[in-house]
Amino acid sequence: MAFFPSTIFLLATVLCTLYVASCSSHEADALINWKETLHTQNNILMLPSWKLDDQKTVSPCKWYGVSCNEQGSINKLNLSSSGLNGTLDHLPFSSFPNLVYLNLGLNYFSGNIPSEIGQLSKLVYLDLSTNLLMGIIPPEIGELRNLETLYLAENQLNGSIPKSLCQLRFLSDLALSHNNLYGSVPSCFGQLSKLGFLDLNSNKISGLIPLELGNLYNLKSLYMVNNSLTGSIPKTFVNLKKLTILSLSENQLSGSVPKELGHLTSLTCIDLQNNDLNGPIPSSLDLLDHRLPVPLLEIKEVVTSILVLAIRCVNSDPEIRPRMYDVSQELASFP
Ligand SMILES: *[C@@H]1O[C@H](CO)[C@@H](O)[C@H](O)[C@H]1NC(C)=O
Ligand SMILES: *[C@@H]1O[C@H](CO)[C@@H](O)[C@H](O)[C@H]1NC(C)=O
Ligand SMILES: *[C@@H]1O[C@H](CO)[C@@H](O)[C@H](O)[C@H]1NC(C)=O
Ligand SMILES: *[C@@H]1O[C@H](CO)[C@@H](O)[C@H](O)[C@H]1NC(C)=O
Repeated sequence: MAFFPSTIFLLATVLCTLYVASCSSHEADALINWKETLHTQNNILMLPSWKLDDQKTVSPCKWYGVSCNEQGSINKLNLSSSGLNGTLDHLPFSSFPNLVYLNLGLNYFSGNIPSEIGQLSKLVYLDLSTNLLMGIIPPEIGELRNLETLYLAENQLNGSIPKSLCQLRFLSDLALSHNNLYGSVPSCFGQLSKLGFLDLNSNKISGLIPLELGNLYNLKSLYMVNNSLTGSIPKTFVNLKKLTILSLSENQLSGSVPKELGHLTSLTCIDLQNNDLNGPIPSSLDLLDHRLPVPLLEIKEVVTSILVLAIRCVNSDPEIRPRMYDVSQELASFP
């Protein structure tokens, strides 16, 4: 009786190990093939730790920038700021079924973002910012249904913002700033209910600010500086209760500043300059009640001793109440 379960267990273990080994060596091959397409910088060998041994059994899990899950399959690739120069064309995205985190930011990658990037079905974090990437944002990025962070800022991307991004229901951080994107802000962005950070600065985005952005009740920072937005600031922004930064300067916004903005009590920074806005800043904006800075230590000490003195003055025990002489002495000692 005991024979069968232990054999099955052994068999399962062997199969698992074989599977994992073949799986991670497939991933290692995929990375090596891509590495070979990258250009060297000043003859410096890129990613020297990325190499296969003769038996090709090496696991990529200890390679620079690579992390694996417990099964030995790659779940994280962080090559940020590694001086890499090349394209993403030969990165076989379908070879990394367990990739959760991909950071290729701050390199010299050029060419397009391949549409195959949509095959990274487990991806939660994608950072391709500060590279030389061109062409459109592939609509297939909308297939990355688990994505929470998408940074594509500081590239040379053009075309319009794909509506498919509205399918990213878990998206909390979206930065597309400093590209050449045009067209309007998709009104379906109002469905991105987890969005806390939206940065569209320095593009060529035009049209009206969609009223639907007022549905983004988790939004804390909204940046749309230096675009070609027209129309007025939507009154629906009164619903953005968590908004702390509203930056819409350098556009062609017109009309008056909605007085409803004064009800946004979390707002600490509002920048609307260089637009065609008219009329007064609504007095309700006085509600943007900035707190006083922490006083100098000596001021703090004076305030505290005045309070102590005042509390003694109202004590019912005459022994504790100060004499007029003590009060005048103490007050005279304050600067
Ligand atoms: C990715 O690498 C960069 C640069 O080495 C580092 O600053 C960052 O913390 C890394 N991120 C993660 C999640 O490991
Ligand atoms: C990238 O490599 C190409 C080909 O070697 C070279 O022409 C280009 O100047 C490099 N780019 C950067 C930013 O180093
Ligand atoms: C977008 O950029 C690519 C590459 O730079 C260029 O070939 C294409 O004409 C541009 N498209 C538009 C519509 O601007
Ligand atoms: C404004 O955005 C354009 C791209 O549309 C960019 O070329 C320019 O440098 C930006 N200006 C500033 C002051 O950032």
